Amino acid sequence: MKKTWGGRFKKPTDPRVEAFTESISFDYRLGFFDIQGSEAHVRTLMDAKLLSSNEGKKLLLGLSKVRRLFEKGKLPLDKGLEDIHTAVEKALTNLVGSLGGKLHTGRSRNDQVATDLRLYLRHATRKMTEAGLHLIEVLSKLALRKKDIIMPGYTHLQRAMPVTLGHHLAAYAFMFTRDMDRFLAAWDRADSLPLGSGALAGTNHPFNRLKTAKYLRLKGVLENSLDAVSDRDVFVDFLAASSITQMHLSRLSEDLILWATSEFNFLTIDDAFATGSSLMPQKKNPDVVELIRGKSGRVFANLIGLLTVLKGLPLSYNRDLQEDKHFIFDSADTVTSSLQIMAAFLDHVKFNEDHMGSVAEIDFALLATDMADILVQQGVPFRTAHEIVGEAVQYCAENEKRLRDLSDLELQKFSDKFPAGTGKLLSTRNSVDQKKAIGGTSPDNVVKQLKILKGLVQKIKKRLPKN
Ligand code: ARG
Repeated sequence: MKKTWGGRFKKPTDPRVEAFTESISFDYRLGFFDIQGSEAHVRTLMDAKLLSSNEGKKLLLGLSKVRRLFEKGKLPLDKGLEDIHTAVEKALTNLVGSLGGKLHTGRSRNDQVATDLRLYLRHATRKMTEAGLHLIEVLSKLALRKKDIIMPGYTHLQRAMPVTLGHHLAAYAFMFTRDMDRFLAAWDRADSLPLGSGALAGTNHPFNRLKTAKYLRLKGVLENSLDAVSDRDVFVDFLAASSITQMHLSRLSEDLILWATSEFNFLTIDDAFATGSSLMPQKKNPDVVELIRGKSGRVFANLIGLLTVLKGLPLSYNRDLQEDKHFIFDSADTVTSSLQIMAAFLDHVKFNEDHMGSVAEIDFALLATDMADILVQQGVPFRTAHEIVGEAVQYCAENEKRLRDLSDLELQKFSDKFPAGTGKLLSTRNSVDQKKAIGGTSPDNVVKQLKILKGLVQKIKKRLPKN
């Protein structure tokens, strides 16, 4: 196939080189955005009087036909075409004849691909954030329903203090709001136009780039052409935000996997969201959440991958940059689908609330800190109270008793500061209800948190970019 740059070459490209250097097998995904960018470029050429209005109209009509071909999957994507940019231009030229040759005036594939990728990023950011918002809504709804459910809270995966299940779920909802904020902030920084930068130095033509940016609904223009064609930092931002989101999803998955074990038995996975074993008939496995956890590997790798591609590149454009797409597409696809399936999984999970509650109840020392706080209220310094209750815990461990079941008489052995009826004051319900200060686990507090979450969700919704 004749190359767009064939003029200075005496020989055709070796087919092995063609196969090795092509990107059309993966950058065809930019087709829609390439056409969008080309339409804006036609308008810029018309404004600059490099196309008559008649020519411009013909090209725009041609591009709309190319778009239809692309949407129907009928755009020829021959490997000899190298990349999607050439494929779009070739298809246009086939439709409008030699006039198609005017489209690339003052444009290089270098500023073109940088523009296409940003338009793609706007689309991916919106999809990602919508999926994230849905997950936050699912978590928030669940948290509200489970605000009174008591379970043991853990540190070091050892039982620590009672918490409410609503509090635990809302914790993740807050994490995901920060993640969505990161995607939007990344887009905010990316919301600028590379087109008009040419191959590297800018253009000889009187392009009004601010107007081009408006045609594409981008906030501004990149002010330096070398920067515009060579950096991919805004995609590193996107991949970093993707990695942090997948890390959060992975931690949530880990909680769910643990909770689904017979050892914890805190939840039952819906049959439609579990998988079986080809050998062991009894098995019901949490593959969905295991895969979310496992996919962190590729999402983190994509971040490191792009950083590695970028780190040694001299200015400005280098073909190495073609490798950016795998990372960007893969993380966008993986994180979006992980957010979506996590929301569906949680929507169907059944929490074994009675069991969670009874584990918190039977634990012999889950209320140890509450007991120390009772002494603190009697004026005992916390360090002393800690020591006293520590001894009581030791006694309970040896005598197979729960702290709260100790009689006043028994407690006097450890301190005369224990008020009468200390054991009765200790309950998991009291424990969670007392956590009233901002951020605490009390049900009232969970309700307050959910109100705040609602506000955060509204703010994120307002910032969603329009495609
Ligand atoms: N497929 C190329 C990429 O993705 C398009 C830009 C090619 N530019 C060039 N000077 N060869 O980066």
